[in-house]
Amino acid sequence: MIMSTYLISMRQSSSAWRSVIPQKRPPSPPWGSWAVHRHTGPEGVLQRAGALENQVTKRCRKVRSSCQSVLSCFDQQYSQELGDLWASARAVLLDPNSWQYGVMLNRFSAVTGVAQVLQSQGFSTLLLGTGVSKLLGNGPSTVSLSKYQAGKDSLLPRDSDYISKCPPDDSRLQPDSTSHALGQDLQPEPSLSSCRPTLQCYIHPRPLRFPSQAHRPGQLKQYYLLNAASLLPVLALKVRDGEKVLDLCSAPGGKAVAIMQCATPALLCCNEPDPHRRDWLAKTLESFLSPSLTSRVVVSAQDGRSFGKSEAGTYDKVLVDAPCSNDRSWLYCGSQQGEQRLKERAKLPALQAQLLRSALSAVRPGGVVVYSTCTLSSFENCAVVEAVLNECPEAEPEDLWEEIAVPLSTYFTFRTAHPARGQPPVQPQNGSYHHRLGLLVVPQPGKTWGPMFLSRIRRRR
Ligand SMILES: C[S@@+](CC[C@H](N)C(=O)[O-])C[C@H]1O[C@@H](n2cnc3c(N)ncnc32)[C@H](O)[C@@H]1O
Repeated sequence: MIMSTYLISMRQSSSAWRSVIPQKRPPSPPWGSWAVHRHTGPEGVLQRAGALENQVTKRCRKVRSSCQSVLSCFDQQYSQELGDLWASARAVLLDPNSWQYGVMLNRFSAVTGVAQVLQSQGFSTLLLGTGVSKLLGNGPSTVSLSKYQAGKDSLLPRDSDYISKCPPDDSRLQPDSTSHALGQDLQPEPSLSSCRPTLQCYIHPRPLRFPSQAHRPGQLKQYYLLNAASLLPVLALKVRDGEKVLDLCSAPGGKAVAIMQCATPALLCCNEPDPHRRDWLAKTLESFLSPSLTSRVVVSAQDGRSFGKSEAGTYDKVLVDAPCSNDRSWLYCGSQQGEQRLKERAKLPALQAQLLRSALSAVRPGGVVVYSTCTLSSFENCAVVEAVLNECPEAEPEDLWEEIAVPLSTYFTFRTAHPARGQPPVQPQNGSYHHRLGLLVVPQPGKTWGPMFLSRIRRRR
């Protein structure tokens, strides 16, 4: 079976997170040359000499000009789809200096000092106390745990609530040398068995910049900078300890890292067909995950459309964070590239639908698929979900409004679009809308998170 081949190859590989190239190379996808997806966060230089406090600065990016052809295309489409909301979303997207960044702590590193610095700078936790914390992996899956419990790490949560309480008991990894600059204690990284899974993300009401950490082989990073809306598909997935999870479109790995903060799955398969992006993914995993996870986290290199056949009914949960228009990034590509992308844009919904169908076949009956994109385009969001649901009577969309939009509406601006099959549109509630096909996060001044669309679909049988 494919997966066991990966596991064996992973162990033989010199680097624990090396990907395994299939003998038959997948066709090179047209989006292989896409720029870095913006929602994975900025790359900045950590100035070691200064204290971290002094490095948290208001973002002041060199103003880049936007691509006019992309902007006019968005203007035309999104003013129709979003109405008045588009003008304010547009203003945010065209002002990178207003963009906020979330700081997701890494439970596998010694992060105590970072949390303190964040708090002293006015950052606050996004999830704790909002009611969504119950979505976090805080217990074993009733379905899969017994099957996969044989691993050496305990899958059960411990009493400690936060990583700051974890005793340092694994000396294989030394803290990132930036710890000196952070004024942190030089503590060894905590091991998997000592820390309860807890997704902790800090956000700030203003666009403050927290420095990013450089990749250093063998050293774990303490935090990951991201668009906080990227966490919503992961929350919707509700991964539990012991489950088998597939991250179908995984590079550069932000959501894979977030999944591993939420729970300790028996298996997380991170799939990425593009070789350069797969290298990036491998680096991310190496930078954030404890080496004790090498038997649980594997990298595969397939075209995501083949999983439905090759691994039918295998996974408890599948995330399809699909290749998409990526509104933030596309607005800032050069004009030639912009024209090219717009030409290829029309092909994306077909690919996205194929990936979603493949995911629905790869998930076991009763399992869950989350489909997400970082575009506002309804053609790549609701229309894709609706098209696939119309062909799959065994797939049922789940309403995320009460679970995610209501508790997090203080932080994100949610919007929805079309009704589910045959159902009337649900009436606006408190100025927002909801329906069962999915949630759309629209960037707004002061809540610049998004664009992000997410939809959760359960396979009934
Ligand atoms: C939006 S990005 C994923 C971001 C990632 N989930 C994260 O959080 O860091 C979409 C990814 O899908 C990959 N992709 C494109 N075509 C694919 C296919 N046919 N099968 C699987 N992945 C594909 C792209 O190379 C890209 O890396």
